[in-house]
Amino acid sequence: MGSSEKNILVTGGAGFIGTHTVLQLLKEGFKVSIIDNLDNSVVEAVDRVKELAGPELSKKMQFHVGDLRSKADLEKLFSGTKFDAVIHFAGLKAVGESVANPRRYFDNNLIGTINLCEVMVKYNCKQMVFSSSATVYGQPDKIPCVEDFELKAMNPYGRTKLFLEEIFRDIQKAEPDWRIILLRYFNPVGAHESGKLGEDPKGIPNNLMPYIQQVAVGRLPELNVYGHDYPTTDGSAIRDYIHVMDLADGHIAALRKIFEDPNIGCTAYNLGTGCGTSVLEMVTAFEKASGKKIPVKLCLRRPGDATAVYASTKKAEKELGWKAKYGVEEMCRDQWKWASNNPWGYRSKP
Ligand code: NAD
Ligand code: UFG
Repeated sequence: MGSSEKNILVTGGAGFIGTHTVLQLLKEGFKVSIIDNLDNSVVEAVDRVKELAGPELSKKMQFHVGDLRSKADLEKLFSGTKFDAVIHFAGLKAVGESVANPRRYFDNNLIGTINLCEVMVKYNCKQMVFSSSATVYGQPDKIPCVEDFELKAMNPYGRTKLFLEEIFRDIQKAEPDWRIILLRYFNPVGAHESGKLGEDPKGIPNNLMPYIQQVAVGRLPELNVYGHDYPTTDGSAIRDYIHVMDLADGHIAALRKIFEDPNIGCTAYNLGTGCGTSVLEMVTAFEKASGKKIPVKLCLRRPGDATAVYASTKKAEKELGWKAKYGVEEMCRDQWKWASNNPWGYRSKP
């Protein structure tokens, strides 16, 4: 069966990584259904995906407002369409909020995913690509992070990812006809090259790049740099930033692997570039891409942050045939295009 006949359910498809991935799926000839409860996204984002896909391809996409915590919402979808696989993005992801309100995270991320698995079994769809995270490496003792490292969680959000990975491993062991790929994303940034899709966090951003972006467009006065005494060349912490379009392509590579390899079982892959960049290096790169000065305030370390985290990319390269194409320069270029065209995200200025 070619990709044109495959039906993919994308949970959380209205969100940051979801929208970029849905667009690539349509371009690759897949049929896509999205389920999203719009908790952290807006319908305008889905409309932009349609606009970029064009009238023909967007006929192959359906959008359903629904919540994974409601089995009725899932049943409605699965009873109407036979899905070949699910890409499961839907989840809450704010670390600080998860510390303040862990029940919300356990309810949404765990119950939502367990419901999804049960309905998938009922409708005999047992192929899944799951959004895991580099957060499952905790503060790694060694870098680069390799998939067989011991896993740890540092906060309730991280625990939901770790628990779900373990749940998927257990399910696949008991029911070997499941094929599951766990994708451990490093730090997704950037935007679609058109400047029409990008990340649009609600409230004050927690993550570095959306914060820098809001300083650049004048929504925030300065960037707090958390930690300038790390044992790194410039004292700021190091992460593995990955362009969201590379991430989107990584999902397509994972999907193809699932369709082709009956022995995939439940396998984890890192999606990163393998390169570490410091906070201050990211600031400089963004200043260069945007032509804007980003004022910084050097602050104390953020509790729970690791000094340096980056991926080993060998396993994804070898087994998925996937490798990130873009570097920090392209990430900043595309993020600035999105920010300068949409300084208030998908909404108009309040
Ligand atoms: P996002 O918040 O932009 O997208 C998630 C989408 O899921 C949102 O549109 C939200 O409305 C939806 N959603 C949440 N709970 C739902 C529910 N119960 N039912 C239906 N829809 C629901 O986030 P993102 O950055 O696109 O992240 C996607 C996935 O990748 C998440 O699981 C996240 O934990 C994971 N991840 C993200 C990052 C990152 O830094 N962006 C890093 C590692 C892993
Ligand atoms: N940082 C600042 N100022 C800010 C925001 C961040 O200096 O305003 C620093 C942080 O201290 C850290 C680096 O920028 O050193 C990156 O921070 P992010 O919050 O952007 O990303 P993290 O690496 O902390 O974590 C992110 C997601 C997690 C996910 C992890 C790995 O928030 O959910 O990537 O995928 F688990």
